[in-house]
Amino acid sequence: MKIVNKKILTWVKPTWSWMHIWNYFWAVKPIIEISKWNQTYLMLADLHSLTSVHDKNTLKDNIKNVLIEYFSFLPDDSEIIVFEQSKLTHHNDIVWILNSVTPYSLMLRAHAFKDNKDKDIDINMAVFNYPILMTADIINFDIDYVPVWKDQKQHIEFARDIAWNFNKTYKKDFFKLPNEIISDDLWIIPWTDWRKMSKSYNNFIPIFASEKELKKQIMSIVTDDTPLESPKNPDNCNVFSLIKLFASDEKIKEIRQKYEKWWYWYWHAKLELLDLILKYFEIPRKKYEIYKDNFSIIEEKLNKWNIIANNIVSKKYIDIKDIVWL
Ligand code: TRP
Repeated sequence: MKIVNKKILTWVKPTWSWMHIWNYFWAVKPIIEISKWNQTYLMLADLHSLTSVHDKNTLKDNIKNVLIEYFSFLPDDSEIIVFEQSKLTHHNDIVWILNSVTPYSLMLRAHAFKDNKDKDIDINMAVFNYPILMTADIINFDIDYVPVWKDQKQHIEFARDIAWNFNKTYKKDFFKLPNEIISDDLWIIPWTDWRKMSKSYNNFIPIFASEKELKKQIMSIVTDDTPLESPKNPDNCNVFSLIKLFASDEKIKEIRQKYEKWWYWYWHAKLELLDLILKYFEIPRKKYEIYKDNFSIIEEKLNKWNIIANNIVSKKYIDIKDIVWL
């Protein structure tokens, strides 16, 4: 389904700051594509990250780094509106009103809350209220579609329910009900081992790491124990799955044939992968270095977009007050 002339929202949550190739193929590439035909917003969910990041400097560093990473990918003439959640003056005023039309019983069903409750973890209230803030992120901008991974599907359903509740309570077709776009076909992108991606396993490939680190990470990709000089099966190999993401059809064919040869080891495949990744991300990696030393270029654009986003929410708040009481 090709989506055109709609409003799309995507987000980045600065709980950590190493963009890896899965982030790229899942979040960045599709959003740049979709932004060609749609009004697209990219929100830095800094308020959401407060549920778990309680160290000021870590948070500040994360925010700066994720911004640099994302901007390194945006084309210079990109029309994606990148903005910071915390710069929306009346966002939380609206969240409060949404709180007032959200049933407690609905919130008890939220996975993020239930998972912790089952484990008997004493969560903070922001974790409990998280889906309501997220709802405001979406419906304050009249968003039609939010591209999400399956884990966020329930949150979009909540956004729909809460928007619907508001409309019903005030007998007005005010908030647009958003929909999710689910992309669940990207599980084929492997990590560097077969475990679930995790910061503590360090089993992901960071796009903006130094060449040395990148090499270390790629060399550590877990392969099977086929003897060095025996033919290997590319279709059962993490390295080859990754190669397929970055190489041309011709190159893929060429490497596939090499997997048969006694002189081609996983080690060789990994070096080819490193090369492919460095080429594929050459421009963003260069831009990353530039932005790192010139963060004001980003701030300038961001300030402009923050104002646009803030105006949208402020206008919403005026309209809501008019409906609710003032
Ligand atoms: N809940 C999302 C996550 O945990 C973050 C998020 C905040 C979000 N606001 C959003 C996602 C709005 C989609 C739309 O990753």
